Amino acid sequence: MSEPTAQPVDRREGQPLVRAVNVHKAFHGNDVLKGIDVDVHPGEVVCLLGPSGSGKTTFLRCINQLETIDGGRIWLEGELRGYQEKGGRLHRLSEKRIAAQRSEIGMVFQRFNLFPHKTATENIIEGPVQVKKQPKAQAKARAQELLERVGLGDRGDAYPGQLSGGQQQRVAIARALAMDPKLMLFDEPTSALDPELVGEVLTVMRELADGGTTMVVVTHEMQFAREVADRIVFMDGGVVVEEGPPAEVIGNPRHERTRTFLRRLRADEAAAG
Ligand SMILES: Nc1ncnc2c1ncn2[C@@H]1O[C@H](COP(=O)(O)OP(=O)(O)OP(=O)(O)O)[C@@H](O)[C@H]1O
Ligand SMILES: [Mg+2]
Repeated sequence: MSEPTAQPVDRREGQPLVRAVNVHKAFHGNDVLKGIDVDVHPGEVVCLLGPSGSGKTTFLRCINQLETIDGGRIWLEGELRGYQEKGGRLHRLSEKRIAAQRSEIGMVFQRFNLFPHKTATENIIEGPVQVKKQPKAQAKARAQELLERVGLGDRGDAYPGQLSGGQQQRVAIARALAMDPKLMLFDEPTSALDPELVGEVLTVMRELADGGTTMVVVTHEMQFAREVADRIVFMDGGVVVEEGPPAEVIGNPRHERTRTFLRRLRADEAAAG
């Protein structure tokens, strides 16, 4: 594979958009995140790699307050997520405040989680109308723009069941974008798709990245990670083992655990043809 010729852009100056410091999470006494430190800068694309069970999904869910954390802190644009700090103590925010914080982050999951009884357009306008109280006509016009952006300008009236997995996933991306999120989180957005549908979703994600959207992407798509990520974070066993530009972490990993993971991934890819 040819190496990129352009100098990598170092966006890591100024305040990070996301700062996670020493994040701990356990489920029933099972330590799943054991002190995760990750910064994501505005406009950066960070790909999160790691073996099954390493805590990638849990970490994304913590960023988005779908899980409470047992230790550490997560900030978005300098604002503490989920808690308020008063006199050195943390106080959990109200559900309403947490929902408001959550609406600042778009999330796309492995399984297309569209409402099955709503059309593509209705799925997309749900958040803007219900949460942001946008007038329906305005939300619909924006939905149409977003559908066009993901290559589905003529499918607004289709129900999820009438769309392919790749199309549903693109609607899910449009739905997340409709909230004008500060950050997009992707959790293996292509791993449930038939191979021939993966490319169309990755293309949309690539365009978002090129447009400057800040993204954290859990993926096993190594070509995407190599070409699109500004930085790779490799997790194993609930810790960050190493991080750096793709050319380093994928091209020349320092840690044996990273090498083992990449070897297995390549073997799996070869076996899958
Ligand atoms: N709600 C939960 N209750 C109990 N255990 C959980 C829960 N969610 C995750 N875990 C456990 O936490 C660990 C990390 O899971 P997580 O889903 O974050 O891993 P992952 O890196 O996303 O894996 P995969 O690549 O398979 O998606 C696993 O051992 C998992 O069983
Ligand atoms: Mg996962």
